[in-house]
Amino acid sequence: MSTQTVSVSQVATNGHPKESITPKPAGENRLFAKEGVTYGDWRDDLVRDGVAVVKGAIPRDRADKYAEDIFTFLETFKGGLGFKRDDPSTIKEDNLPIINEKGMCLGYGVAHETFAWDVRQEPGVIGAFEKVYDTEDLIVSFDGVNISFPNRADLPDNKPWPHQDQDPQRPGFRCLQGLVNLLPNGPNDGGLIVCKGAYRLSEEFHEEFKDEPDKIWAWTKEWYGFTERGMKWLENKGCKWEKLNAEPGDLLVWDSRCPHYNLSPTGDAPRFCIYTCYMPATDASEEELERKKSAFYETKSTTHWPNALNVGGVPIKRGGKNCPYNDWKPRKPVELSERGFKLTGIPYIKAVSA
Ligand SMILES: [Fe+2]
Repeated sequence: MSTQTVSVSQVATNGHPKESITPKPAGENRLFAKEGVTYGDWRDDLVRDGVAVVKGAIPRDRADKYAEDIFTFLETFKGGLGFKRDDPSTIKEDNLPIINEKGMCLGYGVAHETFAWDVRQEPGVIGAFEKVYDTEDLIVSFDGVNISFPNRADLPDNKPWPHQDQDPQRPGFRCLQGLVNLLPNGPNDGGLIVCKGAYRLSEEFHEEFKDEPDKIWAWTKEWYGFTERGMKWLENKGCKWEKLNAEPGDLLVWDSRCPHYNLSPTGDAPRFCIYTCYMPATDASEEELERKKSAFYETKSTTHWPNALNVGGVPIKRGGKNCPYNDWKPRKPVELSERGFKLTGIPYIKAVSA
């Protein structure tokens, strides 16, 4: 989508910026900074429910193109393993990159594929996060892509895993998560399911559940799984779970304290989406920006946390062994607009003499 691109080598020497930019922190009009503000747009939903749909964040024609790009990525994966978009019988692991039962495709440098970066650089997507944080100096996650096909008999069931992606010990608004939906996503097409309004009860909940004996194991502190008792508590408080529907090009955003998980499609159509999460560059430490820089140059993925809390993620296994196709490399080297390069965080690292 970008007309003007900069190659990474033009703006960096040995990975270090020649000049660094001083980022502006989140401004006074950031969401949750003041009580009782109304906006007249999706931000009101976000404040009320902890989740919102930003309609048409990407124009429909470009959203359709990104979905096409993902189909092409799958059909041509490692020279073409046999998947054909019009033939459901070809939807099986032998013919595809490894995609888990939750639809997550995480290896293969997919986080740095052109379609992923083009979506992250879409003005309507960045603009939504600028509104929330009231700053243009943002960094973006190198997160995975969701590719969920219906009726995959070769995968385990996608059991509900209600969770929040934020450390219960660190309350308050810290991160807005997002995903860009790329195919028509109705009631039978799987997708994001959220517990509306529950984020407002987050501190009360975690105070009550801080010593729960049946805590669900978490691989990172920035994750909390809701047990059946926790789910009952939310229900008793009147919180309702709702699956969100969306059109191609819609951006779904949710507060990291919002309980959520995803559903697999049960109809005929697949679900494609790209996770896009931004935070102010000032919220990342120098060390985190350095780690993010390495992840970028190595085309590794991160979780949704844009400050690169975790890089690389879980091993990608095929038939019990490391997937031989996983080289962590996108098909083409990354090319970014100047704005896109800022989103890597690299220009915000303090300059060093070349
Ligand atoms: Fe999550």
